[in-house]
Parts: sequence; C-alpha cells; structure tokens
Amino acid sequence: MEVAATTPAPQTRSSFSSLLFITFVLFLMSGNGDDPTAHLQMRDSLRSLVHQRSNYTAWLNGTDSNFTLAREPPSLRPLLEVFLPNHPPINSATSSYYHNITGFLNGPAHFNNLTSSTSETWGSLATAYIKDVNLTESWSGQEKWGWTDLERVSLNIREHKAKGFEDSMNFLHGNLELISREKGSSTDFQVAGIHFPSNGSFYALVEPNGMIPDIRHLSALVPGDAQNNTAYAVGSELSIRISKIQAMVDAGVTDPDISSPTSGGSCPFHLYGHLTPSLVSAYLMEELEHEMEDPEGITTVSRPPIVFNGVLISRPCGILIEIKDATGLRADRFWRKTTTYTGFAILAYFILLLLLVRQMEITQTPAAISKISRWTFALQAVIDSYAFVFHITIGLVSNNRATLSLVAPGFLAAILFLVFEVRYITLTHRIQAPEDALVNAQPTPTTAVNGEAPASTGGTAPVSAPPSRRIARALNQLTDPESKSWMIVLLLFVLVVQFPMSSRIIISAISMLYSFWVPQIVRNARRGTRKALQKRYVIGTSAARLFFPLYVYACPENVLFMETNEWIWLVVAWVWFQVLVLLGQEYLGSSFFLPRGWVTVQIFDYHPALPVPDPEAPEQSLGDCSICMDAIVVPTELLPGGGTKGGLLMNVAARRTYALAPCHHLFHTSCLEQWLAIKNICPQCRRPLPPL
Ligand SMILES: *[C@@H]1O[C@H](CO)[C@@H](O)[C@H](O)[C@H]1NC(C)=O
Ligand SMILES: *[C@@H]1O[C@H](CO)[C@@H](O)[C@H](O)[C@H]1NC(C)=O
Ligand SMILES: *[C@@H]1O[C@H](CO)[C@@H](O)[C@H](O)[C@H]1NC(C)=O
Ligand SMILES: *[C@@H]1O[C@H](CO)[C@@H](O)[C@H](O)[C@H]1NC(C)=O
Ligand SMILES: *[C@@H]1O[C@H](CO)[C@@H](O)[C@H](O)[C@H]1NC(C)=O
Ligand SMILES: *[C@@H]1O[C@H](CO)[C@@H](O)[C@H](O)[C@H]1NC(C)=O
Ligand SMILES: *[C@@H]1O[C@H](CO)[C@@H](O)[C@H](O)[C@H]1NC(C)=O
Ligand SMILES: *[C@@H]1O[C@H](CO)[C@@H](O)[C@H](O)[C@H]1NC(C)=O
Repeated sequence: MEVAATTPAPQTRSSFSSLLFITFVLFLMSGNGDDPTAHLQMRDSLRSLVHQRSNYTAWLNGTDSNFTLAREPPSLRPLLEVFLPNHPPINSATSSYYHNITGFLNGPAHFNNLTSSTSETWGSLATAYIKDVNLTESWSGQEKWGWTDLERVSLNIREHKAKGFEDSMNFLHGNLELISREKGSSTDFQVAGIHFPSNGSFYALVEPNGMIPDIRHLSALVPGDAQNNTAYAVGSELSIRISKIQAMVDAGVTDPDISSPTSGGSCPFHLYGHLTPSLVSAYLMEELEHEMEDPEGITTVSRPPIVFNGVLISRPCGILIEIKDATGLRADRFWRKTTTYTGFAILAYFILLLLLVRQMEITQTPAAISKISRWTFALQAVIDSYAFVFHITIGLVSNNRATLSLVAPGFLAAILFLVFEVRYITLTHRIQAPEDALVNAQPTPTTAVNGEAPASTGGTAPVSAPPSRRIARALNQLTDPESKSWMIVLLLFVLVVQFPMSSRIIISAISMLYSFWVPQIVRNARRGTRKALQKRYVIGTSAARLFFPLYVYACPENVLFMETNEWIWLVVAWVWFQVLVLLGQEYLGSSFFLPRGWVTVQIFDYHPALPVPDPEAPEQSLGDCSICMDAIVVPTELLPGGGTKGGLLMNVAARRTYALAPCHHLFHTSCLEQWLAIKNICPQCRRPLPPL
C-alpha cells in the first residue's frame, strides 16, 4: 500500500489501458472508407445522364425520343391555391425578395392525408387530384414511416444561376429532411428545382434519399408562361452536370450522392413554395445581398428575416405536407455564426485548461490531493470527451468551411481530458488508494483513543466484507488506476452517446453530467475537509462549462438549429447551487448544510485527553515527537491546578499542543501539520493518516 503512495508506478501504460485507449480512438474515427464499386457506379450514372440528355434534346427539338414529360393533372392548381394562395405582385419601391437563399430553411410541417380528407374546402379537389392513382401499388413494399407524427421540415439548399437565364432563374439543389415528433425519427430526400428570383417562387422535385431527381421533368411544374424557358435552361443544366461528373470520374473522385443510387423506400414529392416579401426596397435588398456575399464593410439595412411557405405534394402516395413560415438562415451568415461560436468555444476551453493547470500546480502534495474527489474530474472528463466527439463529428460530417474551425475546440477538449483530466484522476486515485483501503477495511473509524486498547488499523480486511466491496477490491487488484479511470470515462461516455435524442432526456443527461461538484461536496462533508479546490477554479470552471449548454439551448439562432428550451436554466441554477454549497463549506464548515444529527462520520480526534505527566518525574513531558525529536512538553500554566495524580488533560489549549495518530504515535501538532502537507502516512509506522 505505502509503495503506491510513495513511489509512483512506472508511467508506461499497461497493455490493457493501451487497448482501451486504441478502442476509444477507433470508436471515434470509425467511418466508411472509399468503396471501389463507387467508381464504377459513377461511370454508370455518367452514361445514363448522357443518354438522358440526348433523349431530352431530341424531345426539345421535336424529334422522336422516348422521353415524355410527366405533366401534372389540371386538378392540381386549384388544390395548391387552397394551401398556397397566389401573391399579388409587389411594389419594388417598398418590398422585395431575397434573390439567393443558399443556406438553411427550417420550419413546422403539417401532414394532410389526401385519401381520407374530410375537409369541405379541399376534400373534393383532393379526390379529383388522386382519382387515377393506384395507392395500393405505390405503398406496397414501403416501410411505414410515421407520417402522421410529422412535425418539422428542414432544408438545405444551394443556388446557382441558370446558364443563359442568369437574371430570371436560379437552379437549386440540396437536401430535405422530414422530422417526426417521435424520438428523432426522420427521413431524407434530395431536392432539385428552380427559383424565380423576381417573384420568389420555388418549384422543385423531391426524391427519396439515394434517388437523383430527374430535372428533365421540372418544366412540368412551373407555370405555363415559364415552361419553354425552363425546358431550355434544364438542357444546359444537364450539360453542366455531365461535364462536372466527367471531371470527377477523370480525377477518380467519388460523390456518395451520385455513386450509390438506391431505390428509396419512401414517397417522391413535388415542392411548390414562395418567399414572403421583405419590407425593403429592391435597391436596398440588392445592396444588402451584395454585401452579404462579399463583405466590404458598408452599412446596409438590417437583414429582414427569410420566411418561406410551401407545399410538398406526393400524388402516388396521396400525401400533402404544408410548410408554414419556415425561417431561413443564409449560408454566409451561418459561417459567420459558426466562426463566432468557435471563437467563444476556444476561449472557454482555454479558460478551462488554464484553471485546471493552475489547480493542478497548487495541489501537488499528497495531502492536498487527498482532499480532492476524482469523480468531480471523471464527470468533467466525460463532458469533455463528449464535446470532443461532438465537435469533431460535426466538423467532419459537415465537410465544409466549418470543418477546420470546429475541429479547434474539439482538439482543445481532447487535450483537456486526455492530457490533464485523466492524468489528474489517475494521480488522485494513486494517492487516495491507501486511504480508500483503510476506509473499506474499517468503515467506522475510532473517534477517540483512550490509550488503552490499541485498535488494529492495519490493511487486513475483515472476512465479513459485503460482496460489493469485495468486487471493488478485486477490481482494484486487477487493473491499474489508469485503465480504471479510462474505463470509467469510456463507460459514462457510451452511456451518454446511447441516449435517444429527445430533448427532455438530453437536458436530464446534461444536468446529471453537470453535477460535477457534487462528489467534491460529498467528499468534503464526509471527511470534514475544506478548500480542496481553488475558489477561482470552481467559479471559472462553472462559468466556462455553462457556456456550451447555454449556447445550444438558450441562444435562439444557434448554428445547431436547436430550439431553445427554458429547462436549461434549471441546469444553470443547479450548477450555481453546487458552487454556493462548495463555497459555503469553505466558510461555514464542511457539513454546514446537514442537520446536526446527520453528521454521522466524525472527524478523527487527534487531541484526545491524555493522562497528565507525573509531577514528580524529572521531565514534565508526554514523550518525544518523532518528527523533531524534541520532548512534547505541555506548558505548566495549562496543567490542571495541583497536578492531581492520574488526572486527564481536559484543557483544550493543552490538548492542542500534541497530536495522537490512530496508530498511537504522538507528535507535536505543528510538526504533524507540516508533515501532513507532504505525506499523509505516519512518519514512524507508515500507516495512512486521516486529515488533521
Ligand atoms: C434515349 O435513351 C436510351 C437509353 O435509355 C438510348 O438507348 C437512346 O439512344 C436514347 N435516345 C436518343 C435519341 O438519344
Ligand atoms: C437539337 O437542335 C439543336 C440545335 O437547335 C442541335 O444542336 C442538336 O444537335 C439537336 N439535337 C438532336 C438530338 O437532334
Ligand atoms: C428509345 O428510343 C430509341 C429511338 O429513339 C429506341 O431505339 C430505343 O429502343 C428506345 N429505348 C427504350 C428503352 O425504349
Ligand atoms: C390515409 O388514409 C387512408 C384511409 O384512411 C389510409 O388507408 C392511409 O394509410 C392514410 N395514409 C397515410 C400516409 O397515413
Ligand atoms: C392496384 O395495384 C395492385 C397491385 O399492383 C393490384 O393488385 C390492384 O388490382 C390495383 N388496383 C386497381 C384499382 O387497379
Ligand atoms: C448564392 O450565394 C452563395 C454563397 O452564399 C453563392 O455561392 C452562390 O453562387 C449564390 N447564388 C446565386 C445564384 O447568386
Ligand atoms: C413554347 O414553345 C412552343 C414551340 O416549341 C410554342 O408553340 C409555344 O408557344 C411556346 N410557349 C411560350 C409560352 O412561349
Ligand atoms: C414567377 O415568375 C415566373 C417567371 O417570371 C412566372 O412564370 C411565374 O408565373 C411567376 N409566379 C407567380 C406565382 O407569379
């Protein structure tokens, strides 16, 4: 036991802990590699795209071809107008539309079943619209997704100008996600469409993920007066797409969207939508959009919100989904927000690192470390490992401009927990191991030693130890402290990752993880110690750590598109409550918050009443202090009057001059205090000592 405390174990990792470390890293890094069949599939899709184009141009020229445009039935327009009334034309002096909404749209979605509609306004229109559709056929072989639980729709789109129609048309492509109310279930779609910037109208094909929308059919969606132009623009767009894929095939690059077409197990949709006009003149809007694209630092009008209304309609499935007032976030604004966020995240992690390093510098002696609860740091390590994975995965998955800036806070989080926290936990564990063994072996420490029966305080365990303790001791012997800290971190981490993504559960998980001061409070109260952690460390760490949940759940326009949740303030209150208790322990005593009767674990009394030395002895001493080798002499003025034989020293001041260890070695109190600042074992017999 004492070996562990005095000479630290060699610093090399045991093979078991290296294995855990490697598993951990592999777990984080696992992803799918480059599939060799992907290259073949790229070639296939290139070939079919070339055929599509030649069939399409033939159709455009009016020659024989096997392409036919899938026209919408005339019953669609009246049905659409119920959900998406036509806008009157706008006055460009007072209002305008965004010309480019490259970025994200997010909004509530409402499901309507066209087959079973009982609505008076549109029931008959819906019946007319799906009159000829065999619904049994289109639903067969489809996995049932909870359409009725549909809650939100989220879109990300990129726009570029249509070749030959630069002023009047933008092509858009991107992804659409339908999100269900029930625990984070969602289905993905691919979107390809057209946007008329002059009146903010959108028309798009939406195919289940894995199926590439066939943009040749776009001209069937747009109003009659724009059909010819759209058809020609689509022709040039196909050529552009072919040359892009050709370049990728030549360079040997694969695009998972193109290379793995699968039969989507969901319904194809058409998207009709329009932007709500912004109350900004067309001239100012142009200035604003120009400034957003290449910032020159000029002052513009404040950004009006992007508001989008739309309808997703699937004739084969008989489904109509309303998108009501979805809000947009332009990509350039998003990048700026991401940069701001990462700036603050890096700052927060620097503060955390600095405070931890300071704390570790100050608590270098075993006595100081023995006051610290390693669970406080284990919980923080779990938070940091989670933050690391979170930043790195979001950075890698998004695979865009955010990647690098998101990796930076993730890297700092990794340093914090890999380099400092786990090491600190291990160190604390090593120092505290002899003490833990003492507590395990002897659950109720003797409070006062009367100098009669010498109690055995050795490490020999009683035979009747409860099984949980026996298992814990077996584990202790099996693994070295380092792999044990790793195991704890890994276990808690996996637990957190396994949680289903319901926001209520996430908030509960956050409040559980953010209970990291509780173990320290408990340790203080149980051992009667105070000032284990620096005040600066406690307050600074709480503030810096709260930045992250507050950003996600209290910042209304955060980059993760999380909705604000007022329960997060409960977590904030909980953390500051812990800080208050911790500070209270420092000033009011370590168990100030417990009722008197609850203070079960007494502090070891180093100053029991000892027999008064024989007044006739040549030296009025209690014995020699084995630290300074001098006699322990109680000042005569503190001795009881008359010096009755066999009396006990009752005077508190007199008892404070000496300290009697549980192993019955006697020291000067000041000598023992100095010794305990360095080592918490008895200098004479090397048994662990409780705090003085
Ligand atoms: C149309 O596409 C088919 C393959 O789907 C191809 O065999 C045919 O040659 C194409 N027609 C024209 C006119 O390019
Ligand atoms: C269609 O007409 C254009 C010229 O108008 C011509 O360049 C193109 O080759 C024609 N395509 C086919 C398939 O006939
Ligand atoms: C497509 O049309 C071409 C003639 O333009 C014909 O030779 C070919 O067989 C057709 N392909 C299919 C799949 O119908
Ligand atoms: C729509 O209603 C019909 C008739 O009640 C039902 O059979 C069908 O499953 C519903 N569709 C969806 C997607 O729930
Ligand atoms: C619809 O399709 C299914 C399966 O393909 C078929 O059994 C059924 O007869 C069809 N119904 C009608 C009304 O055509
Ligand atoms: C829209 O903005 C993005 C950048 O935010 C830019 O890449 C794209 O070319 C723009 N599209 C159009 C049609 O101006
Ligand atoms: C579209 O083109 C066709 C011929 O290809 C022509 O007959 C029709 O009038 C055009 N429509 C519009 C709205 O220009
Ligand atoms: C929007 O503009 C396009 C092209 O100018 C036009 O064809 C379309 O009818 C307009 N849409 C609405 C809803 O006015």
